[in-house]
Parts: sequence; C-alpha cells; structure tokens
Amino acid sequence: MEDIEWGNQTGVTEFILLGFGNLLELQILLFLLFLVIYIVTVAGNILIIVLVVADQHLHTPMYFFLGNLSCLETCYTSNILPRVLASLLTGDRTISVEGCIVQLHCFVCLVATEGCLLAVMSYDRYLAICKPLHYSALMNDQFSLQLGVGSWLSGFTVSTNAECWMSQMIFCGPNEIEHFFCDYIALLKLSCSDTSKMVLVIFLLSFIMILLPFLFTLTSYVCIISTILRIPSTMGRQKAFSTCSSHLIMVTIFYGTLTIVYMLPDTAVLRDLNKVLPVFYTILTPLANPLIYSLRNKEVKEALRKALIFGHYFTCNSDWH
Ligand SMILES: *[C@@H]1O[C@H](CO)[C@@H](O)[C@H](O)[C@H]1NC(C)=O
Repeated sequence: MEDIEWGNQTGVTEFILLGFGNLLELQILLFLLFLVIYIVTVAGNILIIVLVVADQHLHTPMYFFLGNLSCLETCYTSNILPRVLASLLTGDRTISVEGCIVQLHCFVCLVATEGCLLAVMSYDRYLAICKPLHYSALMNDQFSLQLGVGSWLSGFTVSTNAECWMSQMIFCGPNEIEHFFCDYIALLKLSCSDTSKMVLVIFLLSFIMILLPFLFTLTSYVCIISTILRIPSTMGRQKAFSTCSSHLIMVTIFYGTLTIVYMLPDTAVLRDLNKVLPVFYTILTPLANPLIYSLRNKEVKEALRKALIFGHYFTCNSDWH
C-alpha cells in the first residue's frame, strides 16, 4: 500500500480513457444526457440524506440504511461522471496514473460497500415483513449500526486488498483504456506482467462481494414475496408486491451486470456487451435507487411534503415531537 509506484516502474505516466469511442457527432448529446443524469442523481440522493437526517420519523434502521445508500451513491457517481463529462466537453481524455489509481480505489471500495449494503437492506426488509413480531428486537440500534459500519468496513478492506495486488502490476506498453473509467478489467489488458493471479483475485473478491450478497438478497426477496402473496387483502398485496418487485429488479440489474462483467470469462460476445453493461452499475443504479427505494415510499413522501409546505420545518423539527 505504502509505495504504489506504477508510473515509476513503467514509463507510462498517463492513461487515455477512450470512453464511448469516437462518436464525435454524439459528443454534445452524450454530454447533455450525462449532465442531466448527474444533476438528478446527486440532487435526489442529497435530498434523501437531508430528509433522513432531519425528519425524526425517519430515524429507523431502514431509513438509516437508505440514507447511507444515498451517501454512497453520491460519492460513487461523483467518482466517475464528472470525469466523463469533462472529457466529453474538452475532448481531453488523458488521466494521470495517480488519478487512475485513486478512481479505481474509490470505485472498488464503493461498489463493494454497495454490494454489502443492498444485502443488508434486503435482510432488514426480510425481518420486517417475514418476522414482524421480532423485528424491533432483532434489528435493534446496535445491530443496525454494526451492519451499516460493517458494510463500509468491508468495502475498505476489499479495495485495500485489491490495491495491494494491483500495485504489483507493471505497465509498459499501450496506455489506451477501452473504457470510460479506470477499471480493473480494462487495466489488466494493458499490463505486461503476468496477470493470471490478479484475474483469480478479482474473481474471488467478486464472488465474496457480489455473488454471495446477490444470492443472499435473492433468498431474502423470495421469502418476502412468498409472505406477501399470503396477505389476504388484494390491495395490500398488490402494493407490497409492486414495491418489492421494483426493489428486486434494481438489485438484479446491479448485481447481475456486475456478475457478468467481473465473473464470466471474457468471450467475444461478452466483450462488446461489457462496454455497455458498466453503464448500468455505475450510472443508472445511482440514478434509479433514490427513486425506487425512497421517493416512492409513503413516509418519505410525507416527510418531503412537510418539508415543502413548512419551509421552516427543519429548523423547528423538534417542536413536533
Ligand atoms: C448511516 O447509518 C448509521 C447507522 O447504521 C446512521 O447512524 C447514520 O445516520 C446513517 N447515515 C445517514 C446519512 O443516513
């Protein structure tokens, strides 16, 4: 960790992020599209953080997790999109080796944390829906804090580990990265050292941080949905089902695209697909998560409505309780 000197060993001092290829005529369109996506993503997620922190009705484990998820998504998208926007606008696609390391490190840390946090959130919902009588005893403050902190810590652990391995790689040849951000897979292709160990490490880390949480989350949702289907009232059943299925679709897209990109062998068919799939887990999930998890939620809508109606609501929040 202490002395990562990729540049020194190698002579490569900067990389070129080829991004979305040479779509010159689309440049401005892509720029506007990503700009809007970035603004909506950051605004939506910050709104949720503010609501969760300010509204005491939302001081429950579920909303703390959602607040943490929004925090995470804000950092996650800010690690990647501003760089993409800058290069679309200026046409300058170079990134220094140090910049590349930092971006990679943040990406791994955040994506691993999100992998854990989504699993934790599904477990929280599983307890709330399938074990409602024991929910508050099981998901107490201490346990939810442990789960939240644990998610962040595992993200840091994984990224530190991955970086130790990565620092042994040597780059000596071409420096054009066929990707819109500094990612392992793309960097591995440029390395002239033996990458077979790295490939194995990435596979193992992906297994632990993506596939296991994915299976865990799927299991939780299967239990949740089978419980929901037993709800007697049709109305209640439909509503709960629509909420859960949209969560399920989101986590499946997130984990599913990550699994395809990081765990499947690099075949010709996948090579083209792998240029598009990262857009899902880097750009679209942070955009859709606040909409799907929070802003459709009745309590969040209520908190938002109060915040909008009473402009002074946040400042005299404590009078309300
Ligand atoms: C993140 O989670 C912890 C506990 O799990 C909570 O105390 C904290 O307020 C959360 N942060 C946000 C922004 O919701």
